[in-house]
This record gives sequence, C-alpha cells and structure tokens, in this order.
Amino acid sequence: MASTRFTDLVGCEKPLQLAGMGIVANVDLAAAVADAGGLGMLALPDIPAPVLEAGLDELASRTSGRFGVNFLMPFLDVDCVKVASGRAHVLEWFYGDPDPALVAIAHDGGSAAGWQVGSAAEATAAVEAGCDYVVAQGIEAGGHVRGTASLWAVLGEVLDAVDVPVVAAGGLGTARAVAAAFAAGADGVRIGTRFVAAAEADAHPDYQARLVAATAADTELTTAFSVDWPDAPHRVLRSSIEAALAHDEEIVGEVTFGDMTVPVERLSAVMATRDFRGDAAATALYAGHSVDGVRRVQPAAEIVAELLSLVPA
Ligand SMILES: Cc1cc2nc3c(=O)[nH]c(=O)nc-3n(C[C@H](O)[C@H](O)[C@H](O)COP(=O)(O)O)c2cc1C
Repeated sequence: MASTRFTDLVGCEKPLQLAGMGIVANVDLAAAVADAGGLGMLALPDIPAPVLEAGLDELASRTSGRFGVNFLMPFLDVDCVKVASGRAHVLEWFYGDPDPALVAIAHDGGSAAGWQVGSAAEATAAVEAGCDYVVAQGIEAGGHVRGTASLWAVLGEVLDAVDVPVVAAGGLGTARAVAAAFAAGADGVRIGTRFVAAAEADAHPDYQARLVAATAADTELTTAFSVDWPDAPHRVLRSSIEAALAHDEEIVGEVTFGDMTVPVERLSAVMATRDFRGDAAATALYAGHSVDGVRRVQPAAEIVAELLSLVPA
C-alpha cells in the first residue's frame, strides 16, 4: 500500500489507526492492529502511571508495529503522559483545548503528538499547540463526539485549515467509506466501532452481538450516559438508552480492573467488558454509523484488510 503523510509521520505500514477506546481497546487489540500494519492505540483513563507503564512495556514486547496512547482531557493524569512519552510512538488527546505543554512532553520523549478535533478552529489550535497530525471527527462517530458536523464537512474544512496530516474518523465502517475518505483527501482513517466487534477486543459478548444486529439508524447522539462525564455528547445504540432508563436499580453491574472490582452506575460512561457481570444491555453501548459494517465478530487483522481493500495502491 502506498505511503501517506500519516504513515510517513508515524512509521506504520498502513494508514489506519485503531481508535483509543478505553478499556475495550486493550493490549491484545492494540497489538493485533499494530501487527496488521496499522497504528494500535491504548486509552486507559483512570489508571495509575505505573500500570500504564507496564501496559506499554507489554505492548512493546508483543508487537514490532507502531502504537500510541490516547488521553481524554477531562480525566488527564500528567504523570501518565510523562510515562507514555518515548515509550509510545504517538501521544494523542481528545476532548479539551489543545495544550502546548502536553505536546512538548510528547516531543521531549521523541513521540509524535496528535489531537482529535471536531472543527477547523480546533484543528488550527492543535497545530498552533505543536501537534504533528490531527484527527477530524464527524458526528457519525461512535463514543464521545466533539463537533457538530458530518465527517465530510469537518474533513474538508480541516484539510483546508491545516498543513499537517489529517486522519478521518466517524462512521467509516466499510471498504467503500474508507476509500471515500482517502478520495476526499484524508491521510489516514481512524476506526472505532468496527474494532469493538474484533475478537481481541475486551467487549462483552452482548455488546458485540448488539453491534452485529444493529444498523446506523439504531444509533443516537445523546447525553444520556453522563453520570461520570457530564455535558459530553456521545453516540450509542438507542436500545442501551432505553434499557438504562427502564432499569430499576441504580447499579447495573460490576467490572473488574486488575485486582479491583467496581460497581457500574446506571447511566455511567463505563463500558461493559468481557467479564462485566450484570445487565450489559443497559450500559453505554457506544456505536457509530459505521455499525452498518459490523456483520460478525472478526479478528482485527481481517477488519484491517477488509477496510483497506478498495484503497488504491
Ligand atoms: C467504544 C468507543 C470508545 C471510545 N473511546 C474513546 C476514547 O477513549 N478516546 C478517544 O479519543 N475517542 C474515543 N472514541 C471515539 C473514537 O476516537 C472515534 O472518533 C470513533 O470511534 C470513530 O467513529 P466510528 O466508531 O464510527 O469508527 C470511542 C469510540 C467508541 C466506539
């Protein structure tokens, strides 16, 4: 596959990035995407720096491919940024004003820096803060959504506004959509929902089964799952909003992180991992319009090959 400004920057073989997706995009999934030639990503909010360090060391031992760490600004721990700098090829942020001090930490360790944005103004601010690439996210995206316009509008305005590589995100679930993003000028594509249904993802089987069964029309942009992350619109399967509202207890289940088991509150942003115990259908089932492309649970490498199959060499 031909190189792009994104593959040149990051050093991966293929212009496809796994979206950082909290606990669902674990070391297994990041390693599988990196092994397949894409950019694997970890995004682990709420973990202490030594745990992130151990995860990055494990990832480095599992793949010779490229990987990065994604940080959500509302939950930022600067110690984690410092630990990731130099250990990950890429450091990237989302959901907050671009910050030159954070970008400098990435560059000091030799990591590339990126920011996921929802508008040209935010992309310009990211480049002014020193970012080496930006991700233009459209409202079709699964998970939290930054902007208010469709991918095709955001991508065009971001490409016009900045000179750094631009990765397209949001609703890209088929080889046709991915080819269209490159035809529109993207230097890379960022894929979330399709990888929630990867065999390696740490997603509950009920979550994956509901993605397989759903179409784009079954998703909704909402602020329903706001208990621990208020005022932040996100796209989920509508059925999860209905199930959460109908749930008659304040706790919908529990998840285990390492040696810690924590309750999951009704309408919390926390996702149902494989070992979630409780009513998984009533947790935040994040999904983008790209859910149309989810037909079955597949190995990540198969998803990478399928999505890039129509991109001209
Ligand atoms: C389950 C899930 C969790 C997500 N978590 C994060 C995150 O932690 N950080 C982030 O930058 N984006 C996150 N996103 C948004 C993605 O970065 C990306 O914009 C989105 O997945 C693209 O749309 P798609 O799902 O249609 O491929 C998440 C998306 C999903 C589906």
